Amino acid sequence: MAKRRQSWCSRNTAPLILACAVLGYGAWLFFWQPTPAPGEAFGDSEAFGSPRASPGFRPVAPLRVEAPLAAVESPPPKKASSEPQYRNSSLGDADFHAKVDLPAPSLPVPNLPETKASGAAPLVVALAARLKQIDGALVVISSAIAHADDASRLRFRVVTAAEDVVPLVSQLKARLAKQSLASGAASPLKEPDIAAVDFGPWTPRVSRLLGGKSSSRKELFDELNFAAFYLHEVLPGVPRVLYLDTDVVVRADLAAELASRDLHGQPAGVAEDCSQKMGKYVHMDRLKKKGVQQDLPYELKATKKACVVNRGVVLIDTERWAATNITGAIEALVAAHLTKSKGPLWRSGVSQPPFLLAIAGRYHDLGAEYNVRGLGRGDIAPEEVDHYKRLKAWSSYFDKFLRKCEFNCCPGCKGWALSPYVSPLAHQAKILHFNGRLKPSAFGRRDTAPLFPPPAALGSTELAAREQRPLCSCGPKCLQECSGLWWKYLPPALD
Ligand SMILES: *[C@@H]1O[C@H](CO)[C@@H](O)[C@H](O)[C@H]1NC(C)=O
Ligand SMILES: *[C@@H]1O[C@H](CO)[C@@H](O)[C@H](O)[C@H]1NC(C)=O
Repeated sequence: MAKRRQSWCSRNTAPLILACAVLGYGAWLFFWQPTPAPGEAFGDSEAFGSPRASPGFRPVAPLRVEAPLAAVESPPPKKASSEPQYRNSSLGDADFHAKVDLPAPSLPVPNLPETKASGAAPLVVALAARLKQIDGALVVISSAIAHADDASRLRFRVVTAAEDVVPLVSQLKARLAKQSLASGAASPLKEPDIAAVDFGPWTPRVSRLLGGKSSSRKELFDELNFAAFYLHEVLPGVPRVLYLDTDVVVRADLAAELASRDLHGQPAGVAEDCSQKMGKYVHMDRLKKKGVQQDLPYELKATKKACVVNRGVVLIDTERWAATNITGAIEALVAAHLTKSKGPLWRSGVSQPPFLLAIAGRYHDLGAEYNVRGLGRGDIAPEEVDHYKRLKAWSSYFDKFLRKCEFNCCPGCKGWALSPYVSPLAHQAKILHFNGRLKPSAFGRRDTAPLFPPPAALGSTELAAREQRPLCSCGPKCLQECSGLWWKYLPPALD
């Protein structure tokens, strides 16, 4: 895999800045004109209704949590009710105003060995997954190892449920070992440094962020979406943590690039997306009018025009994160959002919007290539394609693969959105993010060969199937199925 040292988001190069902007523009369109694409960035488009609907702030979206990988196999989410679920929380306002001071749980956490004599700093990579999401975690770990010059610098810490701690670690190691053997490497990989941490002690706090929804029913699925915000407590004594969602594929040497990356005094590093603006989905006016700032530990720097970032890839300086009290800000924002008197303050997603508000103006931009997302989307808005074209990031060759969405479209997207989804910048990604409804784990499509454009005449079965297969660029004039890029790193199952 070619390693691109040169960021295409280099700040001094105007055309490249535009190229970066394009990434987020896609998501922006998706949410606000409409689109189609389910699950991109902050939520699930199914909650948004017609793509032509006014982008006004309507709290109609059911409370949907960004599902971890493999959630596609879990029971379908509840139907949208006429009232948003957060309006119907069993806790109600009183509970959120009654400050329950839960002691920060302290747990035995695996010790981190000293930096090796080589002097190369280690990097702790945190994931959040239950045993049933092991495949997602495996792909993150194996892809990270595959791109590391010195894999011993990587320390994987998986935040999970108590009963999964032991089986998760043993199965991760067993399957990675099997892959190492299967690869026929001359010197099979040393056993990777993997440990798991029980998130149980934090679930009472996190459950409140979910409006008091039971954690047992969904078995921590939802709670683990918030794990990224508690890593300074869950992994005490670790100065820097890279949090990754379990629907990403790593294509960079993480330790070499991020262990010593200068965060310029900020508590976090994230991939900034300046074409998608905060005001498009956070109700900034309401936030001000309701005096939410008074509940917060620090002055929000969020503005309507602030750039957005995605929570799936976050490099955290734990000491600064704790000192700034980002977690306190997120908790207070969610509490306000859940009250009838102040909320709703945003729509689409539960962990993304408060993260954005809390982190605005308090992060360092890692570069858009660290979070190339949407690879599980079903379609792409014409406006997104137009923008890629304007920025010369879109080859007319890609047009040959697109049709108007016909079969698997979000409500109102039929005949308007283009399908399948095409990510024209995937070949330049350092981290690929398969957010969206079409998780590769649900489809056994492992092919990574470049595709030929389809013939002009296609049967409806073929067309419908094609709509479910997001495409990733493998060069300026090359497309492959995104799914194969994920399967490539999934170690074989145990016998
Ligand atoms: C939601 O509210 C309705 C009507 O107010 C009530 O019947 C229902 O039990 C509530 N559901 C939850 C989960 O609180
Ligand atoms: C962090 O912020 C929360 C919410 O404003 C506040 O209750 C808490 O006391 C703060 N913690 C610290 C250590 O300042």
